[in-house]
Amino acid sequence: MDEKKIPVIIDTDPGVDDALAIMIAAASEKIHLLGLTPVDGNVSAVHTHRNALDLVSFLGVDADVAEGSYDQLVCRFGRYATSTHGETGMGGVVIPQSDKQFHPLRAWDYIYEKAKEYPGELVIVAIGPLTNIARTLIMHPDIKPMIKQIVMMGGSTTRGNVSPYAEFNFYVDPPAAKMVFESGIPLVMAGLNVTLKTGISFDFISKLAQESGSRIGGMFNELVHGYSDVKINKEGDKASVVHDAIAVAYVIDPDKCETEEDRVEIQTERFLEGTWGQSKVVEGEPNCTVITDIDMDFYRDLYRRTVKYFGSLS
Ligand code: RIB
Ligand code: CA
Repeated sequence: MDEKKIPVIIDTDPGVDDALAIMIAAASEKIHLLGLTPVDGNVSAVHTHRNALDLVSFLGVDADVAEGSYDQLVCRFGRYATSTHGETGMGGVVIPQSDKQFHPLRAWDYIYEKAKEYPGELVIVAIGPLTNIARTLIMHPDIKPMIKQIVMMGGSTTRGNVSPYAEFNFYVDPPAAKMVFESGIPLVMAGLNVTLKTGISFDFISKLAQESGSRIGGMFNELVHGYSDVKINKEGDKASVVHDAIAVAYVIDPDKCETEEDRVEIQTERFLEGTWGQSKVVEGEPNCTVITDIDMDFYRDLYRRTVKYFGSLS
């Protein structure tokens, strides 16, 4: 019997790693990508919204784009990550501007409508700051039991990337992250503690692009070359850290991930000491499944499958 597809909304601040994560999700036979809800984050919301519309059209994906937040719940203490993702957020890759229109509902109302349509099944993949998710909880508190789980890229049980303690997505809007972690909704966190171990080598991506000879394969290559979150991976290769793809990989096959149950609390004080936005593991009742490792063969294969899927379309 065909496994039922998982209804998914991706809340996102595209962003190069967001774009790759969105493609992996759209190409997966396990996921029914209902829509994207863009948010202010890597680059300004004007760009993240434009990128979401253009990506969905360029990929030929039948998914909604519901307009999200252009600001944060409280105030933004950081700058945009244009040095990592490029001025417009797509690493310098120019995606044809689409004439796709936003869904009539704003992000928080769209998520609520889809939660009512898929009660207890809807999975939110949150790969940007959590402002839209927090606004959804504020506007529609009765949504909580309708959401199966929120699988997020964010936080870290070790070190930060914006301050010694805080990871970017949580740092941009800690009050929003705090609201999500106190919501009682089942949470899965792909933090820097795992994403920094998952660099995809440039050689692997460029070989994939050459073998595919497809427009998407070429785009993969261009995107990673325009994205400066690069580490030397454990094989000693120059590798692109596609943080957001780990959240999608978990949804596709959680059994390929190692996890632990933790109580995670978001720090929303002491900005100057750098703990603003820290995701701190504390004693107490767990509120989050923390991803600690992922099967890298499985993860790399997702890229092969994605290029193959879209290559067959172009
Ligand atoms: O810290 C990495 C996260 O911040 C990723 O989601 C990246 O896209 C940026 O939003
Ligand atoms: Ca992101």
